[in-house]
Amino acid sequence: MKPVAAPSWLFDSVGYEVYIRSFCDGNGDGIGDLPGLSSRLDHLARIGVGIVWITPFYKSPMADFGYDVADYRAIDPVFGSLDDFDRVIARAHDLGLRVVIDIVPNHSSISHAWFEAARADPQGEYRDYYIWRDPSPDGGPPNNWMSHFGGPAWTLDEASGQYYLHLFLPEQPDLNWRNPAVHREFEQILRFWLDRGVDGFRIDVAHAMVKDEQLRDNPMLMPLDGVTDARYQFACMDHKYDLTQPETLDIYREWRRIVEPYGAALIGETYVLDAADLAKMLPGDGLHTGFWFTPMHMGWEANTIRRTLKAATDAVPAGVGWVQSSHDESRPVARFGGGDLGRRRSLGLSVLMMGLPGVPFIYEGEELGLDDGVVPTDRLTDPVAVRNEGSVGRDPCRTPMPWGPGPNLGFSTAADTWLPLGHDEQWSVASQSADPESHLNRVIAMIKVRNSLTDLAGERASWMDRDDGVVAFTRGDNMFALNADDTARVLDCDPTWTCLFRSQPDPSVPTASDGRFELRPGEGMILARTRGVR
Ligand code: NOJ
Ligand code: CA
Repeated sequence: MKPVAAPSWLFDSVGYEVYIRSFCDGNGDGIGDLPGLSSRLDHLARIGVGIVWITPFYKSPMADFGYDVADYRAIDPVFGSLDDFDRVIARAHDLGLRVVIDIVPNHSSISHAWFEAARADPQGEYRDYYIWRDPSPDGGPPNNWMSHFGGPAWTLDEASGQYYLHLFLPEQPDLNWRNPAVHREFEQILRFWLDRGVDGFRIDVAHAMVKDEQLRDNPMLMPLDGVTDARYQFACMDHKYDLTQPETLDIYREWRRIVEPYGAALIGETYVLDAADLAKMLPGDGLHTGFWFTPMHMGWEANTIRRTLKAATDAVPAGVGWVQSSHDESRPVARFGGGDLGRRRSLGLSVLMMGLPGVPFIYEGEELGLDDGVVPTDRLTDPVAVRNEGSVGRDPCRTPMPWGPGPNLGFSTAADTWLPLGHDEQWSVASQSADPESHLNRVIAMIKVRNSLTDLAGERASWMDRDDGVVAFTRGDNMFALNADDTARVLDCDPTWTCLFRSQPDPSVPTASDGRFELRPGEGMILARTRGVR
């Protein structure tokens, strides 16, 4: 496969996802914003990340908290102004951080002027910006597609008698990427932000922008039961016709030509859980890379972890975006056993991700080892929770960042915050900074080592075949290992290997000089082979 030629900084950096509503509130209204982000960018520089990805801040009615965009060139007043955005870029660049913004091209908001015009005039030029169809013969939706958030992917527009498509909320109508006018609009939008200095785009729903031309029914894999959660129901279908259509690659290629002169990067939210399918989305001439999401769904078991990570290094050797958490999933600390156990495991897994080809991303609060925040039922606000009874949705991973002492742990001076604080002060940045053994300080040390490994580029991951619960690979002169077992294990290397980082510091466990390294349960380790002794 042709290697992905990316901007030189992309695969040399660790990325950090800022979920802007919950990062830092600059104006005291209880919601994170751009001035708040500017005031805390030094935290990112201090932990050593090189890329900051900011979730959507565009004008929006917030049906999906910003993933429903009403104007792609305007900042929502809740988040600030274009001047505030320019200040984020300037401050980030001063600190040596690259800024990647979230672009949402699969769908707009129903409040976007395009959709309002499309709805108002079925004969007008904007109608074809979206996907409209007559009802099926029985009067129901035109096909069997489902919304990711539950229910049918179609909503009837009573006035015209036609349905419009939305793979997410009815407030998020899908754009019609088979219409060249939509391509022209987005070219202008990309240039608008590139000219303001952004270094790249995280492309929302990158895998689904083009739909089957005939809008055929998806084949069913198993019958819908109508009761289980929306995600399970969505998985009952083979998404043959709504997702991963090959024509989507043409958009990436077009965008590649737009961003390349700016040295900017395209990172797809390629939500494709099969590595071979992911590889089809990343042939090398479009997106520079795409996220590999399957690690967010794996259990804690060595063979599963190895298989899940290796699947992506085999299928996309040039590198993927590595994530174990995001604003869409329960936090890894919670998924991997909760509390200290979950924290240890999550950090051990990070060690592997730091060494794999591509870009390891951490999600705000992951550096603090945050567990899911507790959100009382009457405070749940995510549409996924509101629409699906019994689901907590995505709010527990979106509770505000704990920064330090003071009102709302330094997140906001407001009387109340948009989501309740999910954590105690002991997990805040200030408390953990003061403790040399804290999770935060381990993460900082780990990223420092990762940033010092300048000879990783171009090296493939070579997986070790072990059956004792240790997951490990070498890349060039480095080794990355995780003990996913519940008992201590030994890495038996030759004496040319030294330990550069271990995720669980403990003076009682010597860093061996004879090439034998003990890994405690959940522990991750980065090693280096002494140069010249190969
Ligand atoms: C993926 C985003 O990460 C998620 O938060 C959003 O709800 C959907 N795309 C729809 O835009
Ligand atoms: Ca605010």
